[in-house]
Amino acid sequence: MLRSTLLAASRSGAIRGLVERTPLTRPVVRRFISGDDVDAAVATTGEVVADGRHVTLDHLGEDTRDAAQATATVEAYLDLLRRLELAGHTGRAEVSVKLSAVGQTLPSDGEKIALENARRICVAAGAVGTTVTLDMEDHTTTNSTLGILGELRVDFPWVGAVVQSYLKRTEQDCRDLAHAGSRVRLCKGAYKEPASVAFQDKGDVDRSYVRCLKVLMAGEGYPMVATHDPRMIKVAGDLAGDRSPDSYEYQMLYGIRPDEQRRIAAAGNRMRVYVPYGNEWYGYFMRRLAERPANVAFFLRSLITT
Ligand code: FDA
Repeated sequence: MLRSTLLAASRSGAIRGLVERTPLTRPVVRRFISGDDVDAAVATTGEVVADGRHVTLDHLGEDTRDAAQATATVEAYLDLLRRLELAGHTGRAEVSVKLSAVGQTLPSDGEKIALENARRICVAAGAVGTTVTLDMEDHTTTNSTLGILGELRVDFPWVGAVVQSYLKRTEQDCRDLAHAGSRVRLCKGAYKEPASVAFQDKGDVDRSYVRCLKVLMAGEGYPMVATHDPRMIKVAGDLAGDRSPDSYEYQMLYGIRPDEQRRIAAAGNRMRVYVPYGNEWYGYFMRRLAERPANVAFFLRSLITT
């Protein structure tokens, strides 16, 4: 119930002003968001890579209805990629892109604009020797996102995809994507989805996650195990069997279980941290609150006591 309410609020303006304009919330927000600008993003990258972890950076923003805003987001990624190269981080840092931030949800020609904008980011990433992964948003965009992924992979075969185990279709998507060279980030899914397309019970989502892991680990692609769940991490390690440690990786979100991130990296595994930055943090932040009731209590307490 609380999860549904928070996820509904994450897509509406109802409490956005309150959450965003309350300066007291900032320390709570900063647990999950590296900072407002590219300087903060590069500085956080430096800190994370210093202890052996890898990074994927997200310039926050989604559901853009304005073509100029979509172009500004592309420019922000190009600037980020230049800065990562200057700082010498491109061996360990890639970028994650939400297609709805670069045009997918524009009222006309959205898919075409998103494809061209994503292509510009891929050209820049390729030029500095790093990769791009396309985030996955709500189920109404899944076909479009996988279609754009296919188009991008013709020229940039290293572009990664995200799939969500809460969607009933995802096991089949994993089969389709588990081919040589295919980078696939498997997560549980963070949006409010109807029962017609998504498992509603946490146990079903977890069982689907395991089935998807089995497909990806048995396939020829590069599985990216994106979860904080100790049980899923254990299953992934078991299923990896005699795969070499550089043929798959673990991923977690910035601010969540950082000690576990370091432990997994120190044990000789590749661990990548998803680092979001920028001013458009509202939707991302609300999804993090929705994932864990304790975060809501922490957030509300900070309003009262800070
Ligand atoms: P689960 O929710 O079962 O949590 C397991 C444990 O992890 C919890 O018991 C708690 O200890 C800890 N935990 C989880 N969430 C927490 C939080 N917010 N705060 C504090 N502790 C928390 N989703 C999506 O729909 N599209 C996408 O593109 C992505 N991309 C993405 C990239 C990466 C690298 C990660 C790690 C995750 C995503 N997600 C995502 C989010 C994902 O779908 C999911 O909502 C979260 O990862 C939480 O699910 P877990 O697998 O961690 O399990």
